[in-house]
Formats: sequence, structure tokens, C-alpha cells
Amino acid sequence: MRSKVNIKSHPLHPMLVAFPIALWTASLICDLLGLALKKPELWSAGFYAVIGGCIGAVFAAVPGAIDWKTVVPPNSSAKSRGLIHGSVNTVVLILFIIEAVRRGDAGTTPDRVSLLLSVVGVAMLGYSGWLGGTLVYRNQIGVDHRYANSGSWKERTLDDWSRPVCNVGELAQGQMMLAVIKGERVAIGKCPEGIVAFSDHCTHKGGPLSDGVLIGWAVQCPWHGSQFDVHTGRVISGPAQKQIKTYAARVENGEVYVSPLFEVERKKA
Ligand code: FES
Repeated sequence: MRSKVNIKSHPLHPMLVAFPIALWTASLICDLLGLALKKPELWSAGFYAVIGGCIGAVFAAVPGAIDWKTVVPPNSSAKSRGLIHGSVNTVVLILFIIEAVRRGDAGTTPDRVSLLLSVVGVAMLGYSGWLGGTLVYRNQIGVDHRYANSGSWKERTLDDWSRPVCNVGELAQGQMMLAVIKGERVAIGKCPEGIVAFSDHCTHKGGPLSDGVLIGWAVQCPWHGSQFDVHTGRVISGPAQKQIKTYAARVENGEVYVSPLFEVERKKA
């Protein structure tokens, strides 16, 4: 799903994490080489790299936190993975701040505790980077999904079910968009039978179905490939076991309206 903090659709968080990763790793290498070669200028460089890494980490954390809050689907495996990723990074930042405070200035020879803090910090950074990689390469957080002949990703937030979610012409055949209506995430898609609306939440591990693929009347989850019938919500193919929720979609004067099915049934009664 497209990052909210991006430059021309390039997410900012992955660009900025390069700084703390490179600087903190360099600080450990400089300290070890400085001690081995008895060169104070190397551990001085290590001290400045620790400080630079801390500053870089704070700048990288801001777009990461915004994307975790606004882009990662709620109640999903990626949401908890992102929380662990952010928490581990926070601990790493604290470790390096402690190290910088302990050393005090660039001239201080790094002692065993400083080296231990660096080794633990870099090891935890590796684990956190692994989680970050899973968030991008498997969960596709920050990936800007495009559709043939129909432009870029669309997302709307509405505070009422009575308002139109889009114009019918905005969606091409097989294209989907996400509508967050009164806090409920609804995927809207155009299939051969017309406009359909269904829950964005995959019942397997919470993948965003609006970011998947709509072929005919089946939607495929982008995370592990579960497929659902968009009309009935039934599972066509697992690993998901439970059906998804579907909504009533209608077109009036070219505008697409969506309602929870129980409201439609209540009006009919
Ligand atoms: S989250 Fe696993 S198939 Fe959708």
C-alpha cells in the first residue's frame, strides 16, 4: 500500500533508515579498528558516527511511525510486525544514546561496556532490519500499486455511508480502491457484473484486499494468495478459512454508494 510520506511515490522511511544503519555499524567497526590499531582518530570517528546514527534514527522514525499508523492495515500480522520493528529500533536508539552519554566526548577510549552496547545494538538492528524487509517485500507496505490504463492508487475517507465513495468512471475493469467509511475499511472494485464492495480485511492475517488483484468476480489477497468471491464473500481458495464481509454497492447518477448489508435489509423490511 502506498506510503503516506513519500517523494513522488518513493517512501521516505526506507531512504532515511540507511543513515542509522550505516553510521551505527561504522561506529562499531571504527571502535574495533581503533582499539586494534591503537589509533585514537578511529574511535573518535566512531563516537561521531554514534551521534550521527542517533540523529538519523530520530528522522527515520517519524515517517515510519506515520506509515505504521496510517498505511499498515489494522488487526493484521503486519501491524504487530511493525510494532515489534519500531519497539526494537527504539531500544537500539536508547542503547546508542547511553553509549554516547557514557563516552562523553570523541577523545574517550571506548571501554568494554561501550563495545558491548554497540555489538548488541547492531545485532538488534539486524533483526529489526529483517522485520522491515518482511514488511516491504512480503507485506508490500510502501509499494505503490498501479493499474493498467487507470492510473494510480485511490483512497477515500468518508464520515457517512450516505455519501458517494467515487464516480463510477474512476474505476477501470479490475481496478479497486479503498474507502474508509466511518472507520470501516471497504474495498470497492469494478468486475464484469459491475461495482462490488467488500471488506478490505483478509480473514487469514489481515492483508489489504484492495491492494490485491481482482479477476472476474474473485479477489486475491496480496499477502498469501487467499481468494474470495466478491459477491458472497465465500473463500474460493485458502489459506483463509473464513469468508469476508460484503456490502451493497449501487450506482446513482454515475456516483457509487455503498451500504452495510444489514442496513439495506432493514430498509427493505
Ligand atoms: S493475509 Fe494471508 S492470505 Fe490474506
